[in-house]
Amino acid sequence: MLSYRHAFHAGNHADVLKHMVLVDLIGYLEQKDKPFWYIDTHAGAGLYPLDTPTALKTGEFRDGIGRLWTEPGLPAPVQAYVDQVRKVNRSGRLLHYPGSPQFALQMLRPDDRLHLFDLHSTDSRLLQKQYDGERRVRALAGDGYAGLKALLPPQPRRALVLVDPSYEDRQDYRQVVDAVEDALRRFATGVYMVWYPLLVKRESVRLPMALAELRERDWLQVELRVKAPAEDGIGMHGSGLFVFNPPWTLPATLEAALPALVRLLGQDATASHLVRHTIA
Ligand SMILES: C[S@@+](CC[C@H](N)C(=O)[O-])C[C@H]1O[C@@H](n2cnc3c(N)ncnc32)[C@H](O)[C@@H]1O
Repeated sequence: MLSYRHAFHAGNHADVLKHMVLVDLIGYLEQKDKPFWYIDTHAGAGLYPLDTPTALKTGEFRDGIGRLWTEPGLPAPVQAYVDQVRKVNRSGRLLHYPGSPQFALQMLRPDDRLHLFDLHSTDSRLLQKQYDGERRVRALAGDGYAGLKALLPPQPRRALVLVDPSYEDRQDYRQVVDAVEDALRRFATGVYMVWYPLLVKRESVRLPMALAELRERDWLQVELRVKAPAEDGIGMHGSGLFVFNPPWTLPATLEAALPALVRLLGQDATASHLVRHTIA
């Protein structure tokens, strides 16, 4: 049974990195006047209130989006992301946080489509309710790995895929690599974005290496470490993303944004970032 609920973590430092890159990738795909599919294999609930006991219990958003909300002079890619969060907070107070499907829905054009999956009984119900009647969205309660397989290659021959498990199940580390390997075989030119936590755990350290082994070129890895690993090895000290077929502009975008994220989201002197890529 799944116990992870993203509502406890929405808007934390990992969401900031993931959603800033998501906003940039969607913006890039939209430069071309051709529709694409956005496929979210682990979509969550779509939108998260921040004034609930659930969000306030951990208060993780305070050390994420909360640190950027009133910050002046943000680098352009970070500002573009914060501007999208403002769209669900029209009053100016930070009361809601958009999940990945919501960022996509806000940015996608009339002919683009969203395919969303979540396996959790509560979150999949919330997701379906959130987008009920939205003709661009197909939200399914089900396994995102199987859902991805069934959708590729996409009908418009353009797609952005987010693979964002919680890794509460150890199997996720293997399933992510298998799913992306299969997806690249079915649809080699898609843009694939895989999120992973920075943990002391061996599986977590090995995941980006296993992904890098899938392809010699056309990938990018970015990590934001916000603090030193805990001595007891428990908890996440940062997060990373592995992107296949990234836009050639992404390294420069990240080099412009990451120093500011390290400064604003860092929790101790070891906060740092990493960008590695094979874009020629
Ligand atoms: C990290 S959260 C997703 C957050 C969301 N992508 C966002 O950025 O707003 C992971 C989600 O995956 C769901 N999940 C876990 N295993 C799944 C599976 N095999 N297929 C689809 N969803 C799954 C969980 O219920 C949870 O809502």
